[in-house]
Parts: sequence; C-alpha cells; structure tokens
Amino acid sequence: MYPTSRPRRLRTTAAMRRLVSETTVVARQLVLPVFVKQGATEAIPIPSMPGVVQHTRDSLRKAAAEAAAAGLGGIMLFGVPATRDATGSGGIDPEGVLNTALRDVRAEVGDDIVIMADTCLDEFTDHGHCGLLDATGRVDNDATLTVYAQMAVAQVQAGAHLVGPSGMMDGQVGVIRAALDAAGHPDAGILAYSAKYASAFYGPFRDAVDSQLRGDRLTYQQDPANAREALRETALDLAEGADIVMVKPAMSYLDVLRSVAEITDVPVAAYQVSGEYSMVEAAVARGWLDRRRTVLETLTSIRRAGADLVLTYWAMEAAGWLH
Ligand code: PBG
Repeated sequence: MYPTSRPRRLRTTAAMRRLVSETTVVARQLVLPVFVKQGATEAIPIPSMPGVVQHTRDSLRKAAAEAAAAGLGGIMLFGVPATRDATGSGGIDPEGVLNTALRDVRAEVGDDIVIMADTCLDEFTDHGHCGLLDATGRVDNDATLTVYAQMAVAQVQAGAHLVGPSGMMDGQVGVIRAALDAAGHPDAGILAYSAKYASAFYGPFRDAVDSQLRGDRLTYQQDPANAREALRETALDLAEGADIVMVKPAMSYLDVLRSVAEITDVPVAAYQVSGEYSMVEAAVARGWLDRRRTVLETLTSIRRAGADLVLTYWAMEAAGWLH
C-alpha cells in the first residue's frame, strides 16, 4: 500500500517550502544587547564571546546607528562602571556609565529604534548581587525596590523607551510603574524579565560586565527545574503592569516560553543569552557547526516556541542574512 497523504509534496521546491513556512524571523523582531564600558578608549573584545565587545561611548553610538539602519527592533544597553559600591549608586547617577550611554544613544538614533536599559544593580554593586544586601548578607527585596524605582526613572530621563528590570525582586514591576507615572513618564514602558532562571548559561556575560559576583543568585532567580512557577511570575508581572514579558534563557526554556505565550496577552520576548551564543561560536570555531544555518535555526526555534521578540548577540548578523 502506497501512502495517500504525502507531506513531502509540500517540500518539493524552494518556492513550495517558502509558501508553507510557518515561522518568520525578521530584523524588527531582533534586539541587540550591547555593553558600554566607562572610560574605555577603544572597544575591548570579550574573550568568552568572540565578536562581542565592551564599547566606548563613540563605538556604542556607531553600533546604535548601525542597528537602527539595519532595521532591528531594539537595542538593550548594559553598563560596565569603572568603580562600584555596596549600593550600586552608579546605576542611579545621571552621569553613570549607563545613563550617559542612554543619552548618547538617544541623541544618535532618536525614536528610530527602541532603546532599552537593563534595570538591575549587579553591574554596579561591589558584591555583584542584583540588589542591596541586609546585615546578614542576604539580598533585601524591599530595600532593593526603592533603588530600582529611582534607577528606572533615571534611565527614562536619560532616553530609554523601555526599562528592563532583570533582578527578579518580587514587586519590581509594580514599583517601577508607579515611579515612572509619578515622575511624569506614563508612556515609558516596562520589559519585564518575568521568568528568569538561575542559569549556567550566563557565564560569559559575567566576563562581559566584569562581574564581581561570588556565590550565586539562587534566592532570587528561578530554579531550572520549575515550569509552573514561571506562570506565577508572569501573572504577577502582568498584574503589576508589565508591557512586555520575557523568558530567559531561551533555548533550554522553550517549553516555558510556549506556556508563557499561551497565558499572555502582551508581547513575549526571549533572551538568547551569552552562553547560548558562546557555545555555538565555540563549535563553529572548531568547524563542527555551520554558523549561519545554526544561528538561524536557533532563532527560528525561539520564534516558533512563541517569542514575538528575541534578544540575541547575533541580531546584526542575522538581520544581514534575513533580507
Ligand atoms: C542581570 C543580567 C544578567 C544577564 C542579563 N541581565 C546576568 C545575571 O542575571 O547573572 C545575562 C545575559 C546573558 O547572559 O547574556 N543584570
């Protein structure tokens, strides 16, 4: 008996395959994360992330202009300060590295691309945690919220269209929304890192931001074993006013991404993190994987799982391939 149903009919030619392709990846869905280092006089390569650099103010402006010209959806800024303290005061200081960079980038690209800022203290604290520590050395949730609120307002005043609270403090979206409204910024949005896992895949990022962290983030980021908990985190962020919710990392959490997309009526983002980038680049460097096919397959799978937006260090390159 020969089969009557022949799925292969729809794979016979390139035109046929294009006709029935279910998932798109286009430049406007991609967001480029970038690092800017205070006082840098030339762009500094990040050894564990080949092709990614810590920018100077000037090279960041150029990168932002290129991202806008390439039609990317957005650019997410991370600051690497020259000095740090216990309270991460450089994150609130209008003259701090990140706020200065936000002003530079906004002056360069205006509203041509969505400018996002990492709203978190880990880059700015001398202990490397995402929040303030109490007397016993634990991350103090509620004391941290006050600082996040000030930081978000400073970032919007510097030029961010969206703030991205990534510290996984309970209540962070609500206090930031209230602070932005009170400061006269009702149109500034919140990209909430809703389901952010305590992941080994952030390893190379710690190099990228010269992280001071000793220890781990297990008391605030999610356990990789938990999927249901991501729905609870997402529901809370939505109730507190998140404009976009995000799952992070992406590739090891595609099931979480799918279920978040199913319960959410706001856009869903996924962050393809540093370790996801580095492991592919390492295999490519050995000739073990085809770079372009692998990268596009990862991005397609993240979109297929339910992400409307993808933060990826390959955003510029992928945009070039996706004409
Ligand atoms: C926290 C933050 C981290 C990343 C983005 N925001 C690090 C962490 O939570 O330890 C990781 C991004 C990546 O690995 O690419 N500010």
